[in-house]
This record gives sequence, C-alpha cells and structure tokens, in this order.
Amino acid sequence: MQGIYERAYAQSLKEPERFWAEAARDLHWYRSWDRVLDDTDPPLYRWFPGALVNTCYNALDRHVDEGRGDRIALIYDSPVTQTIRRYTYRELLDLVARCAGGLRRLGVSKGDRVVIYMPMVPEAVIAMLASARIGAIHSVVFGGFAAHELAVRIDDAEPKVVISASCGIEVNRIIPYKPLLDRAIEISRYKPRHCVILQRPHETAAMIPGRDTDWQDLMDAEPAGCVPVAATDPLYILYTSGTTGRPKGVVRDCGGHLVALTWSMKHIYGVEEGEVYWAASDIGWVVGHSYIVYGPLFAGCTTILYEGKSVGTPDPGAFWRVISQHGVCVLFTAPTAFRAIRREDPDGSHIGRYDLGTFRMLFLAGERCDPDTLIWAREHLNVPVIDHWWQTETGWAIGANPAGIELLPIKPGSCTRPMPGYDVRVLGDAGNECPVGRIGNIVIRLPLPPGCLPTLWNNDADYLETYLSAYPGYYTTADAGYIDEDGYLWIMGRTDDIINVAGHRLSTAAIEEVLASHPDVAECAVAGVADHIKGEIPVGFIVLKANAGQNGDAIVTDLIRLVREKIGPITTFKVAVIVARLPKTRSGKVLRGTIKKIADGTPYRVPATIDDPAVLAEIAGALAKLGYPRR
Ligand code: COA
Ligand code: AMP
Repeated sequence: MQGIYERAYAQSLKEPERFWAEAARDLHWYRSWDRVLDDTDPPLYRWFPGALVNTCYNALDRHVDEGRGDRIALIYDSPVTQTIRRYTYRELLDLVARCAGGLRRLGVSKGDRVVIYMPMVPEAVIAMLASARIGAIHSVVFGGFAAHELAVRIDDAEPKVVISASCGIEVNRIIPYKPLLDRAIEISRYKPRHCVILQRPHETAAMIPGRDTDWQDLMDAEPAGCVPVAATDPLYILYTSGTTGRPKGVVRDCGGHLVALTWSMKHIYGVEEGEVYWAASDIGWVVGHSYIVYGPLFAGCTTILYEGKSVGTPDPGAFWRVISQHGVCVLFTAPTAFRAIRREDPDGSHIGRYDLGTFRMLFLAGERCDPDTLIWAREHLNVPVIDHWWQTETGWAIGANPAGIELLPIKPGSCTRPMPGYDVRVLGDAGNECPVGRIGNIVIRLPLPPGCLPTLWNNDADYLETYLSAYPGYYTTADAGYIDEDGYLWIMGRTDDIINVAGHRLSTAAIEEVLASHPDVAECAVAGVADHIKGEIPVGFIVLKANAGQNGDAIVTDLIRLVREKIGPITTFKVAVIVARLPKTRSGKVLRGTIKKIADGTPYRVPATIDDPAVLAEIAGALAKLGYPRR
C-alpha cells in the first residue's frame, strides 16, 4: 500500500497542475492564473502565467493583515557583535516599506536590478524584501567574494543601485567592504548610478559624494506599497559557479518560488506558523535566500539571522545556545558545520549544557554528508538528522525526507526520495535508463516543478545548452548517483569540474583562469581533494614556463594571494604545487578526476585514453610531498 509521501509524489507527477494549484490556494494573489503550467513552448515552461502576485506581500503584509503582526518575524543573533535584536512582522514590514520608498526615490522601479553586497545583518534582509516589494530584482553577492567577482556580477545584472555596508565581521576580524565595492565599480564596465552604504559602528566607510547614500538617509522615506507583478516575473538573480570562469545568473520567478517554498516549509521541514526555524547559512547563498529569508516568512515562522560561525566563536556551544535561547524547532545547515563542531567537541559535551527541548529536526545540505557525521549528530542531538539534496538552480530540495508529511526511514549517505514534482531518473552516457543501483547521470524529466530556474539571466541560450541539451526532455543536474531498490537517491558527486568547499560551490575553471593569468604559469589544473572538515578543498597543479622568473615557492605564494585577491577568501585556495607535466588524455583533457583519486587515496584505473601514464606517478609524488593522501 502507498504511504502518504508516495501518494503525494505520484499525484504531483500525474496531475501537476492540480497538485500545485492546491499548494497555491492559501497564498495571496492579486489575480489568479490563466493556467497553472504553461507548457506550450517546451523545453521552456512557466508556472502560474497570468497571475499577479507580490512576494513581499506574502512574506510580511499577509501576516500583518491576518492579525499576526505582533509575532516575531526575525531574530538577529550576532555573537560577533554581541547583539540580539527581535523584529515583529509589523516592525519588519514598516522598515521594508520605508526601504522600498527610499529605493523608489533613487529611481528604482519594477524590473530594475538591485545588487546587495552585505554581511549577515537585518538590513540585508530588509533590502531584499524592499526590492521585491516594488517589483525590482535583487541580486545578492556573497560577502566573501572579492572586487573582481562583484564587478563581473555588476556587469551582468546592470543594477541601478548597489546596497552595501562599511564592513563585515569574520569572528574577530573587521573586513572593510566599501573598498571592495569601490574597486569593483572602478573595474566594472557598467556603472551603477547609486550606492547605499550601511555604516556599521565598527568601521566608517568613506563616501563618494553624488553616488553614495547613507542607509539612514535611504530609510528616511515615505513607505512604499507592494507592486503587483506577474507570477512569471523574476524575483531575483543569484549567481553561481559554472564550469567556465563566468558565473551563471540563476533566475527565480515570483509565483512558482512562493508556492514551492511555502509547500516545502510545511511538508519537508514540518514547521508550522509561529515556530522558530533556523538556517545557519548566509544570505549570499541559495540556502540563505530560500530558508533564511523567504521560506520561513512565507510560512509565518520566526527566522534566525545568525552572524557568526558554527565554531571559532568565543562560545564553543554556539549552535546549542542559539537553539535553546530562541526555541528553535528545526535547524538547517551544511555538514561541514557539524564536522567542525565535532572536531572541537568530539564527545558533544557542550550539547548537554543547553535545554534543546524545542528542537525536533536537523536538516543538512550543500554537499554530500558522510554517514559518520550524520550518525554523530543523530546520537548527540537525539533527533532525526536528514540529509537533503538540492542546487542553486532548483531553489528547494530535489531529494529529501518529507518529514512534514511522513518521516521515512533514514539511510545515512542517501538523501532519501525525490520530492513532489521532481521526476528523477538516472541515465547512462548514451541516454539509457540505468538499472537500480547503477551509478549514472542524474537528470530530472521536464517540466521542473515550481520554484526551479525558468532560465539564466539574459541568457536563454546558455540555459538550454548547459542544462537541457545533453538529454532532450530532461534537466541535467550534473550530479552522478543512483537510485536503490527502495527508490532512495544516492548522490555521489559532480560530473563536471565544480567542487564543493565547506558547502560552497566553486568552479575549478574560475580558479584556473586566475592561475593562468600569472606570467610564470604555462599550464595549470585545479582539483578538489578530500578535506576532513570542508569536504573538499581546491589544490592547484602548476607547470611553470621554461623562463619562469622567481623560484617555485615564491610563485606558489604569489598564486595563492592572487586567487584570494581576485575571487575572494571563500575559495580557500591555500595549496598549490609545481609539477613538470599535467596528466592528460590524448585529446588534451586534464584528468582532474584521476588526480582527485590519487590525492584522496581512492583506488583508480589508469584511463585508457591517457597520453603518458608516467605523469600519474609524478603527480602522486608531488601530492605525497604535501602529505596526500591523508589518513
Ligand atoms: N566576508 C569575508 N570573508 C569571508 C566571509 C565573508 N562573508 N565568509 C567567509 N569568509 C572568509 C573566512 O574568513 C575564511 O578566511 P580565511 O581563509 O582568511 O580564514 C574564508 O573566507 C573561508 O571561509 P569558511 O569556508 O567559512 O571557513 P572558516 O574556516 O572561516 O569556517 C566553518 C569554517 C565550517 C566553521 C564555516 O564554513 C561554517 O560554519 N559553515 C557552515 C554553514 C555554511 O556556511 N554553509 C553554506 C551553505 S548551506
Ligand atoms: P549549490 O548550488 O551551491 O547548492 O550546490 C549544489 C551542488 O552541491 C549539487 O549539485 C551537489 O553536487 C552538491 N550537494 C548539495 N546538497 C547535497 C547533498 N545533500 N548530497 C550530495 N551533494 C549535495
């Protein structure tokens, strides 16, 4: 007999329009849709065409209008500034409406872009919601990216306004943001008309007269109301690493996003209105967009905006303190946070010092969760620990344990079952469906459910080429894995050159581009190698030009500095080694996968296509000098 999950899943594939119309029912629409799914132009699909909606209305005004204005919408908990601040739905709405009015005054209107380059402060959330309120399209750039990366995003999004802050705070270091912003605008082709700067007490930024506005002046504006927009209009652009040096501008639409995230809060995370939900991530990543800002607010929950780390704060029990102090029911974070906690507190002795009575479930995503970490967390927290799998592109889980509907048996290492709307298949390279248990390319039969990217910003062609061309009729996830005899999904790793460092997605091609720009570098390759805390870290393999000027060590130091300067500290690029040659196929493709296996100590076969097998021994020797494989 089918369980509740299986019935819901089957219905979502058989009658998707009925399923998602039902999910959309309790939300606020200015005008209803002409049809739920527009499938007249495959492989491009649109959800809820004809409908008019406003995302900010559904996140804030709806709750105030329905009498929930005094509930806490957001708790800002910042161990790095020793601040805790609470905002009710009414207070947050007031601030967002004023910020929206300020943006209007700067000339922002429907369809204009607003880039947000901010640390984890409430003003960042206010700016996102304010932009949504007036139908503008926000693009949040993660604070750990350097000026060049910000410039690339500014050039692509062409924002009318950039909102930033004087600084971020990394545990006990002040990171001035304004010089990075100024430098980005200096090197960008497109020049935004206005910058809005939040001056934090820890650092005062120099302002450029005529261009820069103080956040406080922006907020001194008449409140602006919600602008109804088409459900198919973009809500935001979020850039993510692709297989080239250029990031991809993932577009999120308004209507599908609203429906899918609201559905997920109740049915996956199992949280109800009024409960406290915490996604310990950053608003610069998709997890932060979906589950710090939008999902919990759509659902009428209290969300936590945490400015700090899982470890390395003055309080080794930081996570348990937050859960107990604010009554968190569900926590969502990356496995790396738990590996770091476990390293500092292997016996979990800090957990017992806090009352975690409200805590029901832990969700992990962003990278593969090793079973060991999952089991450690489950044993010490005594709650279900759920690994779930998704991507920036999908905006919500493709594979999860739908705990809100029915908690399925947990198999550590698997992300459980496909979520409604995701018809997940495993295909061999020739497009054949793989038998149960056989690893292949994980794809999703079109259409993707609501909430997933309808396209890339200003680039339908790249969208079609990157995601929809390999297997016609299917979306390519670029993850490899298999489905087992119980229908469980096992995600084993990427099929492309993207790596995952501490739950952050990075492109090896982008790092290689920076390395190759060094005058002494003839050739280079970057591979992700296993790291016991961050999951993976990038390691560079450098071939020098015959006439390279400095000694090898000095060049490596230079290269490490260059990557940090160009892409940002979040790359965690700290290891590079000079080699005589790179292992390649006869057609010249670098064998990054084989390098990774050598570094990780995983058994490997010498590829039949290899140009010169002797190079592998040289690479193994270079890695051994660095201490790889690590045991
Ligand atoms: N602004 C500027 N610099 C930043 C930054 C920001 N917003 N965020 C990170 N950085 C810097 C860090 O200071 C660090 O610099 P360093 O090399 O000089 O030390 C570097 O970027 C790497 O940061 P991070 O990957 O966060 O590593 P960490 O060692 O500082 O912390 C963890 C490791 C595991 C504690 C931390 O990554 C964590 O708590 N992660 C879990 C949650 C998460 O972020 N998940 C993401 C998606 S769900
Ligand atoms: P991002 O777009 O940054 O969320 O990264 C998405 C990629 O991270 C996916 O394509 C996977 O490779 C990886 N990923 C995310 N969650 C998981 C998970 N639960 N298990 C395995 N890999 C994951």
